[in-house]
Amino acid sequence: MRMYDIIKKKRDDGVLEYQEIKYFIDGYVEGNIPDYQAAAFLMAVFIRGMSPRETVMLTQCIRESGEQISLSAIPGIKVDKHSTGGVGDKTSIVLAPLVAAAGIPVAKMSGRGLGHTGGTIDKLESIPGFKAELTSEKFISSIRTIGVAITGQTGNIAPGDKKLYALRDVTATIDNISLIASSIMSKKLAGGADRILLDVKVGSGAFMKEFKDAIHLARTMVHIGNSSGKRTIAVISDMSQPLGYAVGNALEVREAIDTVKGEGPEDFYELCRELGAVMLMLGEKAKDLVQGRQMIDEIIYSGRAAEKIKEFIGNQGGDPDVLEYPDSILPKAKEQVVVKADKGGYILSLDAEKIGIGAMLLGAGRSKKEDVIDPAVGIMMNKKAGMPVKNGEAVATLHINNKENLEQAVELVRSAVTVAEGPVQKPVLIKEIVE
Ligand code: URA
Repeated sequence: MRMYDIIKKKRDDGVLEYQEIKYFIDGYVEGNIPDYQAAAFLMAVFIRGMSPRETVMLTQCIRESGEQISLSAIPGIKVDKHSTGGVGDKTSIVLAPLVAAAGIPVAKMSGRGLGHTGGTIDKLESIPGFKAELTSEKFISSIRTIGVAITGQTGNIAPGDKKLYALRDVTATIDNISLIASSIMSKKLAGGADRILLDVKVGSGAFMKEFKDAIHLARTMVHIGNSSGKRTIAVISDMSQPLGYAVGNALEVREAIDTVKGEGPEDFYELCRELGAVMLMLGEKAKDLVQGRQMIDEIIYSGRAAEKIKEFIGNQGGDPDVLEYPDSILPKAKEQVVVKADKGGYILSLDAEKIGIGAMLLGAGRSKKEDVIDPAVGIMMNKKAGMPVKNGEAVATLHINNKENLEQAVELVRSAVTVAEGPVQKPVLIKEIVE
């Protein structure tokens, strides 16, 4: 087999066989296929596309390029959850203990933030003492004893994806549904869960800006999961404005804790409830979504979710008193700067991407992998789309520790806010469920 022939076949709109895709992935990971041939192949895929069958095979080959985690030592149906990323998305911090409290073992591998989107690991590390990089032994034993653990990626999962993603990033081949879906699903499938919930975000702060692309990605990933023997459901949810009010690590942990206690923002609770209900269905604890939602409400309002998150935080070295005393335990920024509305009316939109970049500029996120984040800083929104606003009223409060990029961040947040004269419908949060 020659890489030249595989590139030519795809260039001419041919359909690849498993052995050809395997030859490419293995050869590229081992260093036998050079970047220039891999780049040509990616561009051929980008232009010609891949069939659903080719996409499933590509995912399988990337998944097989590295270690595959076995969770078989943990009894029960393991359900994993993945978000395609957004602004103010602290859902995993609520869902992991919530679903664990219902008796579903949660073995969650999460990432760090990059660009305008945050990462669960950074958020959790803003809790003093919390350790998010667990050994495989500690990861498995935590799930066996308390039913939940969240760790940064362990082991050598899908090295083929790491290498391919870096090449896609510099060859303008990121935005292809088959390549995105295989990249995400290869890592999820290697993570060892039995069932998968995907939260596919759509809107200004999401990877997918348009609904038609989000649904295409959701259907492709659901097909890959189901074809690989792991029942998969995707929820398409709104990311046209930040989720909840908090954007920034400690600020988001505070909002997640409030939500676990039943005191969180309405939109964020609605999303946690819907995603939690789907996870209970996937884990065979609820017979349908209606029962799943009722169970989520019961777990939150009985205090069981709060007990579980306390146990989870303590088990990973964090200070469990953060539940009772978040204000004194979580890091706080030195100063607050208020951004005010420059006219009255109704909030038409709050551009999530601009707000995410604003928070990143304050130090809450990274513009490149090596950047060090400040857990205390970020942005608290004072408004949500659809709410009335008066001229001069606060729309956002920036929590800052220095003034380095302050002007730029203020300008971004200001430009993210659009005010309409008349009443505005708030965006629909749950747009579609794809099975
Ligand atoms: N996230 C991933 O993990 N891979 C992609 O290709 C895009 C987003």
